[in-house]
Amino acid sequence: MSDFEHVFEAPPEGAAADWTIPQNWAAYTDVEHETWNTLYARQMKILPGRACDAYMRGLDALDLNTGGIPDFEVMNPKLQALTGWTVVCVPGLVPEDVFFDHLAHRRFVSGQFIRKPDQLDYLQEPDIFHDVFGHVPMLTDPDFAAYMEAYGKGGQRAASLGMLDKLARLYWYTVEFGLMKEADGLRIYGAGIVSSATESVFSLEDASPNRLGFDLERVMKTLYRIDDFQQVYFVIDSIEELKAVTLQDFGPLYERLKGAEDLPIDTILPSDKVFTRGTQAYAAKGGRF
Ligand code: PHE
Ligand code: FE
Repeated sequence: MSDFEHVFEAPPEGAAADWTIPQNWAAYTDVEHETWNTLYARQMKILPGRACDAYMRGLDALDLNTGGIPDFEVMNPKLQALTGWTVVCVPGLVPEDVFFDHLAHRRFVSGQFIRKPDQLDYLQEPDIFHDVFGHVPMLTDPDFAAYMEAYGKGGQRAASLGMLDKLARLYWYTVEFGLMKEADGLRIYGAGIVSSATESVFSLEDASPNRLGFDLERVMKTLYRIDDFQQVYFVIDSIEELKAVTLQDFGPLYERLKGAEDLPIDTILPSDKVFTRGTQAYAAKGGRF
């Protein structure tokens, strides 16, 4: 999701009025396809036993490992048949209202480009590996699919109420960096984690971060960092629960949040359900891997 205001004022040259551009799959080079294959193979060594069931099932259903970057003309019919979602390409970060409108219509926006071979581990702008490998498997889950559509509609409302910074935290701590409790322990469902080799391990196994039970109002007050591993992860009980909590009317919640103070990133409240009380050693050392 875009953390920047308007990168462009209007759709750039070559983009449609809704900011989409063609994927132009035939134009990817061998090196770019190889980058996808390398990243895919690397994650597949890490994710079994770490990513949640819904994610692993979605990855299977979409068959994104046929050699190279997925062709949206092949992937989209499969995704659409499952949950009605499709994926469209955009030239970079798009304005919030454009982003929300796509989500509200079950269209997920993806970068068209893939990272360079010397940036496998970290990049600032989401590329097609993060957007497709990270986000799209979860969109095959009917409850998650409904949540994401509702988020798009909720974004339009939050914008009109001046509550976007609060709603963005919900996206960050669920869609991007969410953990889930499963029968055998904590599992990853956040796209920012599943698309990162290092954070896939850090988020579950490192002693540093706090891992706390998900609480909607608490999450909406909590600051986050965009430039390094998270200092706190929030754990949902299930996707159904996430959907049930967020489908409620946020009107009263937004009223309460208006006067509320933001919570520092490493706070643990007496009311928190604590899965891990982190040492915060990684952040204290200055972070950045
Ligand atoms: N229920 C929220 C509202 O009333 C909308 C929303 C749904 C937001 C799901 C995020 C996720 O504004
Ligand atoms: Fe993302």
